[in-house]
Amino acid sequence: MTYGVGISVMACKSGLFFAEKLIPYLNSFLKQNGEPEIAITKTEEQMFINTEIKSNVLESIRGKDVYIIQDVSNLNNGYSVNDNVLALKTLINSARISDASRINVVLPTFPYARQDKSFNREGITAKMFAKEMEILGVNTIMTLDIHNPAIVGFFDKCVVENLKGFRDLITYFIKNIDTSNLVISSPDLGGIKRAELFASKLNVGLITIYKERSYTKIDAIEKMEIIGSVDKKDVLLVDDMIDTAGTMYNAIKLLKEKGANKIYCACSLPFLNGKAVERMQELFENKQLTKLIGTNAVYKSQDFLDKNLWYLQISVEDYFAKVIFNMHTSKSISSLLKEVKSN
Ligand code: R5P
Repeated sequence: MTYGVGISVMACKSGLFFAEKLIPYLNSFLKQNGEPEIAITKTEEQMFINTEIKSNVLESIRGKDVYIIQDVSNLNNGYSVNDNVLALKTLINSARISDASRINVVLPTFPYARQDKSFNREGITAKMFAKEMEILGVNTIMTLDIHNPAIVGFFDKCVVENLKGFRDLITYFIKNIDTSNLVISSPDLGGIKRAELFASKLNVGLITIYKERSYTKIDAIEKMEIIGSVDKKDVLLVDDMIDTAGTMYNAIKLLKEKGANKIYCACSLPFLNGKAVERMQELFENKQLTKLIGTNAVYKSQDFLDKNLWYLQISVEDYFAKVIFNMHTSKSISSLLKEVKSN
């Protein structure tokens, strides 16, 4: 049984690459279910000279179950995160005006998720984004490893499905890495639950790092201390996101100083902005980093993947396609939201 009369998948410009990867998987699920295969619904997105953005759905989607894909952190085409968010809003509005029956937004990365509470008078932008999505009439959002699951509470009507990037990352480490001398570490106390999950699934020990960040400066870490021993141990550092890699860079240096052997990093959202690539490259050249494994929830060009031997990408578009298929056919997705694959 399907929801509504049919399914439509469309993408903003920055989400098109992810959408094109996802469609073959979705089509194979639709085919197995005896449903016709689909193509990406035609849309148009233009940025005017003054940077305003306009979107238009070029086919009828009346009564359809619509999935809009946008990779807000794909900055490759010269758009900023803010441009991408704006492009998303204009396409949602266009789909609403076109009388879609249900609007689902697919965001491999959830924007503004780090501003989820107020220090002094800072705006809570994660909540602002949530409210905007609801005003625009979004029914569901699916995303990967949202920075703080409590953000889901900022939504009153819209359903948020938080997919687990660690599901594929843990599976990768189980299959590919020698864990006999491994310990798991979080680069800060905030990530300890995530590190605990890795430690229990890989059946290895756990240490952590205490990190103090300066909140008056961007990309500034004041202090780091290791809680536990890493002497002659291989270490897997796990985090939800790597942005400027300041956290990972300092953590790896410290772990090396304390006698760690091989160091791996895993993260769902490898933004790698600012000095991140430079920092990771330096650690790799100095044999301090063995590999960083991230997911393709954040777009990376083939050129980037070929050049940066310290980086390995795990694909998650098949995972998103399965969740979309189950949602469209009103099947449960709870087994897909577990941290480790069942097979
Ligand atoms: C912090 O709460 C996050 O989990 C990451 O550790 C942090 O956002 C990484 O940022 P950066 O790579 O810029 O240090």
